[in-house]
Amino acid sequence: MKAIRYSEYGTPEVLEYLELDDPVPAPGEALIAVRCASVIPGDWKVRAGNLRDMFPLSLPTIPGRDGAGIVVDVGEDCDWTKIGEEICFVTEHVEPGSYAELVARPRGMTIPKPPNIDFAEAAAMMHAGVCAWIGLVETAQVSAGQNVLVHAGAGAIGGMAIQIARETGCHVTTTCSASNADYVRSLGAHRVIEYDRGNFEELVSGQDVVFDLIGGDTHERSCRVLRRGGTLVWLIAREFEDVSDKYGVACRQAVIHDRRKTLERLAERVAAGILKPQVSGRLPLDRAAEAHGRLERGDNSRGRIILEIGDGS
Ligand SMILES: NC(=O)c1ccc[n+]([C@@H]2O[C@H](COP(=O)([O-])OP(=O)(O)OC[C@H]3O[C@@H](n4cnc5c(N)ncnc54)[C@H](OP(=O)(O)O)[C@@H]3O)[C@@H](O)[C@H]2O)c1
Repeated sequence: MKAIRYSEYGTPEVLEYLELDDPVPAPGEALIAVRCASVIPGDWKVRAGNLRDMFPLSLPTIPGRDGAGIVVDVGEDCDWTKIGEEICFVTEHVEPGSYAELVARPRGMTIPKPPNIDFAEAAAMMHAGVCAWIGLVETAQVSAGQNVLVHAGAGAIGGMAIQIARETGCHVTTTCSASNADYVRSLGAHRVIEYDRGNFEELVSGQDVVFDLIGGDTHERSCRVLRRGGTLVWLIAREFEDVSDKYGVACRQAVIHDRRKTLERLAERVAAGILKPQVSGRLPLDRAAEAHGRLERGDNSRGRIILEIGDGS
């Protein structure tokens, strides 16, 4: 199979486009012909070696945290799918990933592809949707009537988070650049704070929940806009000093997992047309390095960059 692989940590140039042996599905696994794979910020951070303590890789490795494709073979005792089924999957950073023509996955790391979206949107749904769901639903436990501030609403996770909070019945404020204000409104944000035109902490107050996808000084600034007793939920981004006690707010990490129940709840809402995964651009598999470069420079918004394998359809 054709795949992207790297043998050492480094710049995007360490990503090689190679011919590798096809994976063989283990008992209970399906072999998936990948049509689309997402490129996520974690992919470049792992490749650069920035997260090597958290994700100890055995190199060489194939990157890619999620994707979507078609089952082309099954291992022994694999009775949960059949050849031809359209499927979405996740792979852990420490496993052979999705930047490849083929990947083998057990049932627990897959869900059927919602029929109303294409493979690119299906890939974009997976990790981005899971992170937004775990952050707002499982960690913050948002409920109708709450005021929720979602940072980085024009990003892949933020875009899903806006939709989840809106569907729950929250009043949703989000931060993004002025150029993306109309875009985040189209996803359901009630109020938009353009971070390049003003400081959100001077414009917002009394929030029940802040979803912080940025870190650094955004952490303290977010504590200031929460009501006392409010909740700040964070994902690993820029390092920050936890000052939540000083402001009388709770600070909770959204710890990302890939439990199938969570994948299913997400996919149900996508299948019902309630949530729409966002795709910012499409590139062929052999241009993975270009996609990494764009993410690393902060040159991506409005959803996931998708690597298409074959024609991606
Ligand atoms: N396990 C974990 O903890 C975990 C899991 C997944 C992701 N993450 C982290 O979560 C972060 C977000 O991931 P993602 O996939 O959503 O990234 P993404 O799609 O690349 O999002 C980038 C977005 O960030 C926005 N942004 C940049 N600076 C901003 C600021 N000062 N205020 C508001 N928005 C700003 C940009 O908005 P504009 O385009 O409008 O400038 C851009 O749309 C990343 O740092 C990622 O590594 C952590």
